[in-house]
Amino acid sequence: MSSRICIIGTGYVGLVTGACFADVGHKVICVDCDESKVALLKSGGIPIYEPGLEDLVKANVAEGRLSFTASTEEGVQNSDIIFIAVPTPPQPDGSVDLAFIERVAREIAGCMSSYKIVVDKSTVPVKTGQKVAEAITRYCKAKVEFDVVSNPEFLREGFAVEDLMKPDRIVIGVQSQRPVQAMKEVYAPFEAPILVTDINSAELIKHAANSFLALKISYINAISIICEATGANVIEVANGMGMDERIGRRFLDASLGFGGSCFPKDLSAFIKISEQLGYDFKLLKEVQQINAFQMERFVKKITDTLWVLKDKTIGVLGLAFKQNTDDVRLSPAIDLCQRLEKEGAKLRVYDPKAMEKAKTVLPDATYVPEMNFVPEGCDALVIATEWPVFRKLDLERARKVMTCPIMFDGRNLFDPREMEALGWIYKSIGR
Ligand code: UDX
Repeated sequence: MSSRICIIGTGYVGLVTGACFADVGHKVICVDCDESKVALLKSGGIPIYEPGLEDLVKANVAEGRLSFTASTEEGVQNSDIIFIAVPTPPQPDGSVDLAFIERVAREIAGCMSSYKIVVDKSTVPVKTGQKVAEAITRYCKAKVEFDVVSNPEFLREGFAVEDLMKPDRIVIGVQSQRPVQAMKEVYAPFEAPILVTDINSAELIKHAANSFLALKISYINAISIICEATGANVIEVANGMGMDERIGRRFLDASLGFGGSCFPKDLSAFIKISEQLGYDFKLLKEVQQINAFQMERFVKKITDTLWVLKDKTIGVLGLAFKQNTDDVRLSPAIDLCQRLEKEGAKLRVYDPKAMEKAKTVLPDATYVPEMNFVPEGCDALVIATEWPVFRKLDLERARKVMTCPIMFDGRNLFDPREMEALGWIYKSIGR
């Protein structure tokens, strides 16, 4: 059955969700207060890089199932289910800024003239659903009935369309049974297991899951320290651990640290929420510390080897916070570049998708249009993002055009023995 859906906020979550809902047959109106973004989307442009998204948006706009507007009223009046997918940015003390959510709740309340289901998709602290319901009750002049639902999103950037089309699970948090059937109909085409819970549990599932994944990465990064001290290989250790089905191999890739717009923010938020609830979540504070230490260790590896960085030229492959995205928000690669520049190094950088976005935060680097041109004149090469294409780097050519063939691999993309056999001084993580 086709549902009439409005999505407020056309960021990563909102736009991908809207496009995927339309693709399975729902009628979707995406609302954004940024008129220039709406104009871009209407003209067929996509403000972010996300594999598969552009085609999906084009096809569904052409079929008349997906449309864009800057008017919340238009979106709300033509829909039965309204998804809130606006940003919940961090504040300086680590807590979450809920001003966008509150404003949208008020706006929705102001235009409701019949029963609506208002769904929160943004990542929010536990008990936000209650606050949204209170705000809508207060600001709804028409005094119509409504239900608030929590439906957290688990998509990964770079795999967002895939994650949305084939989700592991759908979590639906409700305060009454009334919206359950309609929500199940929205998700029926995705054929995923659906977990119906109370709203507070649904909100907690998101924070608990993200923090656990971050913990998994910090755990293997801590193991990487032990591996380096003993000559063990962290990839072998991760493979062996991952063969235990209770553990699983995913999210056990040691790295120079996790970043992005979710894990760091969600961890800080969860620590803050726990503090407000009277619990000092020391375990998660340690997850943050291991992550910060991993970056420091990596920079130290570089300075220990190159000694003085002033006037050295370092080539950096990767600027995005991970593969398959142009997103540089809280990217470990950018953090690393800024640290190297602070030490006086000159950078030659390349990323398959993130160069434009990186220029605003890393204005002094030399942006090289092709990865094989990066090594020219470099004293060392750094791999900072796990783009698979970096494995295809012309190592022979690189070695010839570099001042010294030294590579610091923050993503373990190459094999240490092969690199040494090819004449490289090669340093990676946990090996
Ligand atoms: C994450 C969650 O995976 C997703 O479910 C949630 O909805 C939003 O937050 P995302 O931030 O897009 O998604 O990226 P993810 O693929 O989880 O990677 C996060 C960071 O961890 C990246 O910097 C990545 O490079 C790093 N990472 C990931 C590792 O260092 N090692 C790993 O094994 C996995």
